[in-house]
Amino acid sequence: MKQDQRVNFMNAITQTGAAVSIARLSKAYRTREDDEVLALDQIDLDFEPGSFVAVVGPSGCGKSTLLSLLAGLIGVTEGTISIDGEAISKPHPKIGVVFQSDLLLYWRTVLDNILLPIEIKKLDVSRYRLRAEELLTQVGLDGFGNKYPSELSGGMRQRVAICRAFIQEPGLLLMDEPFGALDALTREQMIMDLQSMWLRVRNTVLFITHGIDEAVFLADRVLVMSPRPGRIDLDLKIEMPRPRQWNSAHEDKAYHGYVRQIRDIFEAKGILVAH
Ligand SMILES: Nc1ncnc2c1ncn2[C@@H]1O[C@H](COP(=O)(O)OP(=O)(O)OP(=O)(O)O)[C@@H](O)[C@H]1O
Ligand SMILES: [Mg+2]
Repeated sequence: MKQDQRVNFMNAITQTGAAVSIARLSKAYRTREDDEVLALDQIDLDFEPGSFVAVVGPSGCGKSTLLSLLAGLIGVTEGTISIDGEAISKPHPKIGVVFQSDLLLYWRTVLDNILLPIEIKKLDVSRYRLRAEELLTQVGLDGFGNKYPSELSGGMRQRVAICRAFIQEPGLLLMDEPFGALDALTREQMIMDLQSMWLRVRNTVLFITHGIDEAVFLADRVLVMSPRPGRIDLDLKIEMPRPRQWNSAHEDKAYHGYVRQIRDIFEAKGILVAH
């Protein structure tokens, strides 16, 4: 690898994360029967640049709605969302998204899938090829660049989708249950890979999950949402040193305290029944 090229990449990826500001945000959907479903109700949130924020909440509480609004995929009913002071109303180049299903293009190789956002932004693809390979190595897919998605397992495809999000160096990375469909071992590996990728880039992350454990392990801050209409019931700061090691973090008293606090909320609301 040429030294000068490498230096350029390091400069490119040391940009700081985006600041996100959400004020009095509400979202109501109109159903086909013409009823109104209030999914989010008056949410106020600010994300520190470079922070890792996880959102947990019961099914249907409005988590994906929040993500779609931030991604500019749907419009707000009330309130405002801004990224680095700029209002969001459509997909923004500073924002990358990873969904539960990988959404890779089957006719493109792994490398060409990762490079797609670069092509769309009309940047010099050859300059990013090295970075794409570096990302593949980081997620344990060294040498898989020329394979097609159909030749990979579900977990491998999801890793490629994460590389594709990271290559854009998004100031804000939105992830909607990215590990929901994975087996436990793959999921554990991906959690660790995500932590190390994020520690290098330090973008702002909004990570939606059903897993209280992965939220506490990964995040600087966990937001617990109420059943619909979604509001923020708890805003919990997670203070554990980084990089977090799997075994020691899971044995940490503080970790169990955080998990307990979140479970208590779900139990109090009858979402989880204590046994
Ligand atoms: N396009 C839509 N039209 C009408 N209602 C919708 C639409 N999308 C979502 N909803 C409703 O809004 C509420 C929130 O949905 P959302 O998908 O945001 O929940 P979620 O928290 O992501 O759930 P899950 O954990 O199951 O993914 C639900 O009651 C859902 O039925
Ligand atoms: Mg959802």
